Amino acid sequence: MTSQNYPWPALPSGADPAWLPPAPERGSLRLKLAGVGPLIDTVRAELAELTGAGAGQLVDGTAEADVVFTTADRADELASGDLAGFDVESAEGLSQEGFAVLRQAGRVAVVGGSDRGLLYGYHHWRRQLRNGTAADGPEAEIHAPATAIRMLNHWDNMAVHPVMGQVERGYSGGSLFYADGALREDLTRVHHYARLLASTGINRVALNNVNVGPLEATLLTERLGDVVRLAEIFRAQGIAVHLSVNFSSPMLLGGLPSADPADPDVAQWWSRTADAIYAEIPDFGGFLVKADSEGQPGPYRYGRDHAEGANMLARAVAPHGGLVFWRAFVYNHQQDWRDRSTDRARAAFDHFVPLDGGFDENVILQVKYGPMDFQVREPVSPVIGAMPGTRLAAEFQVTQEYTGQQKHACYLAPLWSQVLGFDFEGEDVGGGESRRVSGLVDAVVAVSNVGADEHWCGHPFAQANLFAFGRLAWDPALAPEDILREWVQSTYDDVELRDVVVELLRDSWQTYEDYTAPLGVGWMVRPGQHYGPDVDGYEYTPWGTYHFADREGIGVDRTVATGTGFTGQYPLPWAARYEQLDSCPDELLLFFHHVPYTHRLGSGETVIQHIYDTHFAGVERVEEMVAAWETVRHRAPAPVAQRVSERFAEQLRSAVEWRDQLTTYFSRKSGVADEHGRHIHP
Ligand code: GCU
Repeated sequence: MTSQNYPWPALPSGADPAWLPPAPERGSLRLKLAGVGPLIDTVRAELAELTGAGAGQLVDGTAEADVVFTTADRADELASGDLAGFDVESAEGLSQEGFAVLRQAGRVAVVGGSDRGLLYGYHHWRRQLRNGTAADGPEAEIHAPATAIRMLNHWDNMAVHPVMGQVERGYSGGSLFYADGALREDLTRVHHYARLLASTGINRVALNNVNVGPLEATLLTERLGDVVRLAEIFRAQGIAVHLSVNFSSPMLLGGLPSADPADPDVAQWWSRTADAIYAEIPDFGGFLVKADSEGQPGPYRYGRDHAEGANMLARAVAPHGGLVFWRAFVYNHQQDWRDRSTDRARAAFDHFVPLDGGFDENVILQVKYGPMDFQVREPVSPVIGAMPGTRLAAEFQVTQEYTGQQKHACYLAPLWSQVLGFDFEGEDVGGGESRRVSGLVDAVVAVSNVGADEHWCGHPFAQANLFAFGRLAWDPALAPEDILREWVQSTYDDVELRDVVVELLRDSWQTYEDYTAPLGVGWMVRPGQHYGPDVDGYEYTPWGTYHFADREGIGVDRTVATGTGFTGQYPLPWAARYEQLDSCPDELLLFFHHVPYTHRLGSGETVIQHIYDTHFAGVERVEEMVAAWETVRHRAPAPVAQRVSERFAEQLRSAVEWRDQLTTYFSRKSGVADEHGRHIHP
């Protein structure tokens, strides 16, 4: 495992530096770094870039320094005066990934718990440098990640899929990794991507789509060299790589007659394959598996359960310290819409909770945050509160499949923050950290929103989501608005621009919900592509995604008393709260209940009036966003200004379409007029 020959290749012209612009601050700082090792080389390259861009100079030996960077165990390599006066004791006992920022009379020491901790400490300090708070602050700041595993999943295909394209649910151009069925020759952008991720604390990535096609399956074996190249780049930023694997690989790649996890030949094939990977990539993270899900093969084919399937793979990587991320996204995607008793929301719990305690220690069950599928609003998946004997990951979607596809500005950190903070014992009872989602999971995972687009994420403001995901995975207690502020400060120079962008994005998830998905109803989108309104698009399909609107009312009865019984998958107090109409939170009412349009919400409004009001208000808010943007767009770099303006034009067009289709649909269905007499198309 050699370190890269850093500094990394320059970002190609036209590519946006995102939140790591080369010169965060000009100045005359004297910077000193102690230590040797691959990640120390990375920090050195970062410092060289800063000084090269005019932040000051790198010094060594006995020269005096304004900022010293070191790891706790190498502090003695510094000159005796370097750490004099600092409260070094408070840096004792740092975790491996943790770091301390110590201050003393205008001087700063950044001390990492290990090389990796120092890299995170460097980026923390760099953000402070950028916002002017590096030198003055508390005498000792101590930081450590709340969650050990902070991971992005790439849904990148090597070969362009005829329906899903190069990147499944990707809205940012092609893949950063692959083009034309092969690894890209030029991986310059990947170096920068890895830096961007490391700067937010991400420490793992999966390199290919969870739907693993025949070509992508070969990354495990004959195309392992491609994985080796990517692993080298990510390693230099402290990031381990994973592969999504096809459960039938022993058949596809090994010529075996079956992939039955109980067949010793199958288990041996996986062990041999894992050994070969680890011989090339000793720090390989492990496998990610979508099994028995939406047509992917899995253990059910052989009459085995998911613990048997997952454990077989886990035993192949266990001798090397590898992990298996096994996805809980298992449901019947061929159900009959006439059958109202089958409820997709129940599926993950019904399949997996009975297996609790049966998974090996190196299996992590990866559970989508809601029981359906990344909708704008869902209750938190009850699986996360019901498997104390299993290591869990909460899975999020940074890519905006159902939240505007990076054409709409939609800052998702408030959604993720709510989910991570959800307390299965109920806030008033106060279960404490141990019953919050953030305390129940070992890993926080998300589907990346990045591609070969010059702005990385299609919409320049979608960079805020990528940044925020890493920061929240590191510290779920951070306030979404504070993260947003960190992001604008890191990304844009102009103060007024920063303020307006924060203002625009802060409540943009709420706004998106307003003009799209009322009261917990999802799926009113164009089938397949999932963009734009189509109220009944999914209503008579096999996907288990219905709203059951009729002339009387709308919503899915998921109660124990009269519905599918899904509310019973929650512990108290939530089971009771969701079950009862009067205690069910308004924003989730139609997820749990079928009610008349005239039902009065906790807010005092009727359901139908709420639908009208939020759709009109949502569009008005988008109009305000567009107007506010126009006042500052000249302060943004020209390519950003142009791209954002284009996206806002589309967002407004689309929001109007959503408003008009939904208000018309529900006024036709219900026959109830808008109390405020606004124009609704007949
Ligand atoms: C969604 C998405 C699919 C994806 C799936 C998954 O259903 O639309 O494209 O494959 O999630 O998470 O596996």
